[in-house]
Amino acid sequence: MKTYLKILQRVLPYRQYALFHLLFNLLSVVFSLVSLAMVMPFLTLLFDKQKLVLQEPTFQWSAEYAIQTFYYQISQIIITQGKEKALLFICVVVSVVFLLKNLFLYLSKYTLSPIRNGVVRDLRRDLFQKITQLSLSYFSNEKKGDLMTRLTIDVQEVETGIISVLETTFREPITIITFLGAMFFISPSLTLFVFIVLPMSGFIIGRIGKTLKQKSHAAQQKLGNILSIIEETLSGLRVIKGFNAEGIQNARFGQENEAHYQIQTNMLRRRELSSPLAEFLSIVVVCIVLYFGGRLVLSGNTSLTAESFIGFMLIFSQILNPAKSFTNVFYNIQKALASVERIDQVLTAPISIQQQANAQHISQFTNQIEWRQVNFAYQDRQVLHDINIRLPKGKILALVGHSGAGKSTIADLLPRFYDVTSGGIIIDGTDIRQYNITDLRNLMGIVTQEPILFNDTVFNNIAFGKNEQVDMELVINAAKAANAHNFISQLPEGYHTNIGDRGTKLSGGERQRLTIARAILKNPAILILDEATSSLDTQSEKLVQAALHNLMQNRTTIVIAHRLSTIQNADEIVVLEKGQIIERGTHDSLLQNKQGIYQQLVAAQFGRQE
Ligand SMILES: Nc1ncnc2c1ncn2[C@@H]1O[C@H](COP(=O)(O)OP(=O)(O)O)[C@@H](O)[C@H]1O
Ligand SMILES: [Mg+2]
Repeated sequence: MKTYLKILQRVLPYRQYALFHLLFNLLSVVFSLVSLAMVMPFLTLLFDKQKLVLQEPTFQWSAEYAIQTFYYQISQIIITQGKEKALLFICVVVSVVFLLKNLFLYLSKYTLSPIRNGVVRDLRRDLFQKITQLSLSYFSNEKKGDLMTRLTIDVQEVETGIISVLETTFREPITIITFLGAMFFISPSLTLFVFIVLPMSGFIIGRIGKTLKQKSHAAQQKLGNILSIIEETLSGLRVIKGFNAEGIQNARFGQENEAHYQIQTNMLRRRELSSPLAEFLSIVVVCIVLYFGGRLVLSGNTSLTAESFIGFMLIFSQILNPAKSFTNVFYNIQKALASVERIDQVLTAPISIQQQANAQHISQFTNQIEWRQVNFAYQDRQVLHDINIRLPKGKILALVGHSGAGKSTIADLLPRFYDVTSGGIIIDGTDIRQYNITDLRNLMGIVTQEPILFNDTVFNNIAFGKNEQVDMELVINAAKAANAHNFISQLPEGYHTNIGDRGTKLSGGERQRLTIARAILKNPAILILDEATSSLDTQSEKLVQAALHNLMQNRTTIVIAHRLSTIQNADEIVVLEKGQIIERGTHDSLLQNKQGIYQQLVAAQFGRQE
């Protein structure tokens, strides 16, 4: 029920449309009822049973008056122009009524479109916004494909659900109630039968729908897995082929695909059962009513005439349709509810990195950065132990150590990609958690081992993150400083060349120089270089190295590197092992300790380079 309300809540911004939708629906229902009721005078006329209404009825607000007036009009035509003209008159009126019914039906759909599409748009927007707000730690635990399913398929399911909700809440009940009212007007006793028999079939259908929601949940999850594998495979095709792992990947995919197939088939079979079952049950109901009604008419001792009985059955048959679609709608809602829950899980996921209510602004870095007694754990695993480092403005701090020692983690804490478990990071005397996050991140430029680029032009990739219009000249200057201008100029469309998904049309070194140009253009006070050169060959490393040298001018830099060349000039080198600082000093002072890890790292590197 709570989830059901959540769907309706999404419709709330579109309430004017919903109101009109309701109104038009009501009108179309009324006119379709009238169109059916018209059959009765038509029949009486054909069967020559028309009792003439010679006296004009006095006006009042009732169905009785409307009917009497209609009969009066027909009687007038029969008297003055004959029966054929009366027949023609009825046909014309029926056409007009149908025209109106369909016009209002169209208008009701017309007002429904902005609701259903609007809700989809809003959901996607909110989900996307939320994804960009969630902290990085969230994504270590979630599959990309699953998130994409939520953004696409689940949102679509909600759309179907919304239509269903609007229909069940408005259209179908209106139809059923007005039609039942009309039936009651014609024959109260027969309508009672309907009341007894219809709910019984409803109960049976409800039982089938019960498990549908869980099944739908499972199916969407499987679909998420499938998308995850597709995504991984597309981005890892090179490795998959290189390791001849096509078979393995196919098997993994096949397994998920098969599971999805099973659930989906199972679900569809159950679902498809609803329609034939509903139809059969309704026909049984119809037959029961026909039998009892027929007997009444045959006995001749009621006011129920053959024509009214046919009219009654006609209207009744029209109730069966909404009742049938009611069951469909019921299943759609079950599926939508499963999707709403999945969407809601993302929308309500806690954002672990929060800005304080009265966060301080910081526009300039003036003094120093300090990691003070920093401890940090990913989930339960502690990866940093009591880290204390001071980095004065304008200096270079180098972090070295074996892979997995915690170097990147120390760097990631600075822009608050993660928050420390205890201790704190202090910039210019204030804990970074007290700063405005946007301000804090504005101070920093980050170049990582894996260049992050977007499927866009060179220009837009360099100017990325700048809201205002950026001058071409500034971009070119940044590219020149990053040693990127030459290769960019040789691209087919220069700065307006699209670089493909994640920059696949460029070499590793070229990609890295683009990210450096981006950092230069941002002109940050604090620079974080996380193994920016380690994935490159020596030739491109030289170019990137020179670019980095330009970038580091007049900045405070944290550099993480394997290669000694980058860190020899550092003002302090911190050696990490298993999340702890085990040595620190300058290059020269560290080399003094012949037994030290730094010494070993240096030796290992020279060994490797030779
Ligand atoms: N998102 C994460 N979730 C859980 N553990 C992580 C995550 N990122 C890194 N780790 C773990 O934290 C430790 C330190 O990682 P990292 O700082 O990346 O090391 P380095 O950069 O020195 O190679 C490693 O043992 C790694 O397995
Ligand atoms: Mg690292």
